[in-house]
Amino acid sequence: MAKLPSFLPHTSLPAVNGGVAIVTGASSGIGRATVAALAQLKASTHTGARSSTHTGAHSYAPDRIIGTSRNPDTITDPVDGVDYLPLDLADPASIDEFAASALRFGPPTVLVNNAGESQSGPLEELPDDALHRLFEINVLGQVGVTKKILPEMRQRGAGRIVMVGSMLGSFPLAYRSSYVASKAAIKGFAFAARREVRPYGVGISVVEPGSINTGLSARRTKYVDLDGPYGAEFTTMLKNLDNNEANGISAERVAEEILKPITAARPKPLYATGSMAPVVFPLSRVLPTAAMHWLINRKHGL
Ligand SMILES: NC(=O)c1ccc[n+]([C@@H]2O[C@H](COP(=O)([O-])OP(=O)(O)OC[C@H]3O[C@@H](n4cnc5c(N)ncnc54)[C@H](OP(=O)(O)O)[C@@H]3O)[C@@H](O)[C@H]2O)c1
Repeated sequence: MAKLPSFLPHTSLPAVNGGVAIVTGASSGIGRATVAALAQLKASTHTGARSSTHTGAHSYAPDRIIGTSRNPDTITDPVDGVDYLPLDLADPASIDEFAASALRFGPPTVLVNNAGESQSGPLEELPDDALHRLFEINVLGQVGVTKKILPEMRQRGAGRIVMVGSMLGSFPLAYRSSYVASKAAIKGFAFAARREVRPYGVGISVVEPGSINTGLSARRTKYVDLDGPYGAEFTTMLKNLDNNEANGISAERVAEEILKPITAARPKPLYATGSMAPVVFPLSRVLPTAAMHWLINRKHGL
């Protein structure tokens, strides 16, 4: 039988192991849980214990783990075995410096683009500078870091890149338009670039969390005139959103999902967890788009 072309999705990618795992935004929430999960895998190789993986997956344990924060000195509960480097995704010079430092640690095998800003407000009232900053952090910064790390992976013929998106990137919610658009944009970059890098043994996947209990609600940026035309509805949406996040699944569960494309022989384009993802995605394939949009807004009191 003729050999199948290596870029076809049913062919396996080379397994990654050892090397350096990089996780952006590792000071709290999902990023912190991800470096903690990686640190456990790293420790398990030292103790001789076998790491557990899901069916059809190989085990992965990094030699070094790099986490990032804008101010690593302010991290109050650092994870043992993780090296923290400064990175501000809104600053191209910071991305250059970070990449140069990170690559000195050794060959990168895994990159998790997790850092992000959660922004909210009616489209009409979103300040231009806030919009620019959001896209610098959630989209251009992630792409910028990826462009610096990817060549090393491509030259070595193996690597896994994970973009942490959001289920809102698949299912838009009113008063979150900028955030929804940034998460849809990063998914677009990832889905298109997958085919480019597959022949070089590199996988790119998107992980879309639903509502996750990370305390992100307190850090969300909000731009709204509460006495203006959208004030009342915005307040209703935000109350429901914060409530969903407070009752959401843990960051550790998302970290488990992030490990799947890293250890999978054939990483899927999209993974999702939280907010009833196993029901919502199949439902979206049978319901009209307008019905899905109605459901998402309804879930947030609109
Ligand atoms: N929580 C949820 O319900 C949820 C749902 C869907 C998707 N997500 C996505 O999951 C990712 C992590 O969210 P999380 O809930 O874990 O939030 P989080 O606890 O607030 O963590 C955000 C991380 O991003 C970093 N960060 C913020 N601005 C940055 C910048 N300008 N440059 C570099 N790093 C920056 C922060 O680090 P420093 O402040 O230390 O710099 C922090 O480590 C985000 O991309 C978010 O959009 C979260």
